[in-house]
Amino acid sequence: MQPFDFQPRTRFVFAPDALDRLGALAAELDARRVLVVTDPGIVAAGHVARAVESLRRQGLAVSVFDQVVENPTTETVDRCLVHAWSFAPDLLVGLGGGSSMDCAKGVNFLYTQGGRMQDYWGVGKARRPMLPMIAVPTTAGTGSEAQSFALISDAETHVKMACGDPKAACRVAVLDPKLTVTQPRQVTALTGMDAISHALETAVTTRRNAVSETFSRRAWQLLVSHFPRVLRDPEDLTARAAMQLGACLAGLAIENSMLGAAHALANPLTQHFGIVHGQAVGVMLPVVVHYNAQEPSVAAVYQQLLDSLPEHSVQTAQGEGPGQRLAALLQGLLQEAELAGRLQTLGVPQDALPRLARDAAEQWTGRFNPRPVNAEVLESLYRQAW
Ligand SMILES: [Fe+2]
Repeated sequence: MQPFDFQPRTRFVFAPDALDRLGALAAELDARRVLVVTDPGIVAAGHVARAVESLRRQGLAVSVFDQVVENPTTETVDRCLVHAWSFAPDLLVGLGGGSSMDCAKGVNFLYTQGGRMQDYWGVGKARRPMLPMIAVPTTAGTGSEAQSFALISDAETHVKMACGDPKAACRVAVLDPKLTVTQPRQVTALTGMDAISHALETAVTTRRNAVSETFSRRAWQLLVSHFPRVLRDPEDLTARAAMQLGACLAGLAIENSMLGAAHALANPLTQHFGIVHGQAVGVMLPVVVHYNAQEPSVAAVYQQLLDSLPEHSVQTAQGEGPGQRLAALLQGLLQEAELAGRLQTLGVPQDALPRLARDAAEQWTGRFNPRPVNAEVLESLYRQAW
């Protein structure tokens, strides 16, 4: 028996055009002044204008910070914080991909608690109440809308800090699958692969429990069976909705189970070589699956995950044992998404692997991997993926 402490904190509103309900949802939270945190691409897609219109229709004062960048740093958060100080919001909206939602959460820490982002690295370091926040994801990837963690990189060291507190959890997540249709193909591929890695890593961590397993498994089914469809037909709203829901459920799984070695290995690749997160985690996932499958209880979970997929989704899953079959299926998905399956292709020099492995060994998330990993093991995993 694995004990757990599960408290749902977020209300999830899932419907086409749910974005138009943003104003009413904010008003229900007694908001008067709303700061929308987003990026220029989301402005260009027209989503920000719609969000602002919905908020203003409720008579709310709205200000927009649209300078979020990919992998937001402490600098991004500081710039948004200055904006927040001058506007004095009583509610935050994170509108965009994981970066916008994480930036809004990061600002929430500093705006309500003071100090610097580094002070909140870890879990449960906020002492005062935080502002209510509404997340509106426009990608199907991080599942940040379902988590109480903000991932913010230190602008100087480039180390990704996970800053978590139950008070940072979103009060509402608005899941409008129509918003994800505007994602470029590359973003669909990268965020989809990330979401799949969340479903898979959470399914086997040492923290997995009855609640997280429920989310991991449903997320896995939704994501793997619809990923090829959104790649082939970006306008397929049914498949987009399944991906968005899958990514969100995988986010809930993370909140209740943590992640594993593929994320520990991915972070240094992003830090040192600027490899985008979805690609970094995708390239490492097959070798991690192969490694984890040596543990019989994990192999059994992998087998169940394979069995839960429809026939057409497991055609590429060839090999001996669930580990090999699952790794083959993942390689097939990478190919279909036109993502690299080897570190060499991504321009990572072989002599960088020991250094990367030392950094990966320091990643907190590696501690929850079902088979223990140290620098030596991680280096061998990098070599296998090279
Ligand atoms: Fe991830």
